Amino acid sequence: MAQILDGKRVRDEILAGLAPRIQTLKRKPGLAVVLVGDNPASHVYVSSKVKTCLELGMHSEKLTPPASIATGALLDIVHDLNSNADIDGILVQMPLPAGIDSQRVLDAIAPEKDVDGFHPVNVGNLSIGRPGPRPCTPSGVMELLRRYQIPLAGKHAVVAGRSDIVGKPMAMLLLQANATVTICHSKTADLEAECRRADILVGAIGRPAMLTRAHMKPGAVMIDVGINEVRDREQAAAIFGEGSDKMSAFDKRGSVLVGDMHPYHAAEVSSFWTPVPGGVGPLTIAMLMSNTVDAAERRQ
Ligand code: GUN
Repeated sequence: MAQILDGKRVRDEILAGLAPRIQTLKRKPGLAVVLVGDNPASHVYVSSKVKTCLELGMHSEKLTPPASIATGALLDIVHDLNSNADIDGILVQMPLPAGIDSQRVLDAIAPEKDVDGFHPVNVGNLSIGRPGPRPCTPSGVMELLRRYQIPLAGKHAVVAGRSDIVGKPMAMLLLQANATVTICHSKTADLEAECRRADILVGAIGRPAMLTRAHMKPGAVMIDVGINEVRDREQAAAIFGEGSDKMSAFDKRGSVLVGDMHPYHAAEVSSFWTPVPGGVGPLTIAMLMSNTVDAAERRQ
């Protein structure tokens, strides 16, 4: 029987480890979150970031300019935060509304305050193995694997997805842990065959239940980074089956969260697997807090 990798438990362990470090600092670590416009999913994510900050006794600022803000005005906000002594970490929630030059905004964040690890300097530091903030979701996955003592050296890791936020940094971190890494994407010729070679399969494509048992080597470790909201009842029923608890929940809420992996297949076939929700998701915020405390310690 496959074992669940419990992201909530690991999140709580990570946060508990941060508390004494926060108390030792002379000044509260400060995180500024910039949320542009009114993307509902982004609002949910940002609220839990702010809440976790406050629970940890950290300083938190939330800036919410309208979607109509010009790139120049957003750059001014970032420059002010760069020189704000109370702020150790700056996060600009992605995606930004169309019309804003995301790359210019991310480039404007001071690399030492870039707690997302998205600045080109930090992307470079990651790729050559120098210290610096690492993107939160992939570093959360590494913490999960480390705390469950899942060996990586010499193992074949396959990352399905090549985004700058997850797929690419995930591949880099696995490579640094001495895994042999394959990155797959929408043009990969035989995705099933590539994924079936994985001892550790990471799903980061953003398509509900796309990875099925045909992609899974029996006994492998399944890490599902996808968080897809399925609103189509037929699609949800095809995954979970009529009469399941998930379909009762769907009928109450009108939607259900599904990862990139078929949850039943991952649970049946794997040795370890991450459920959605409750697997990788909780770790992203924990690593954001960890990056912010790191930045505050470095500044002090
Ligand atoms: N949008 C989805 N995930 C993330 C993240 O980790 N950081 C930021 N800034 N935006 C996101």
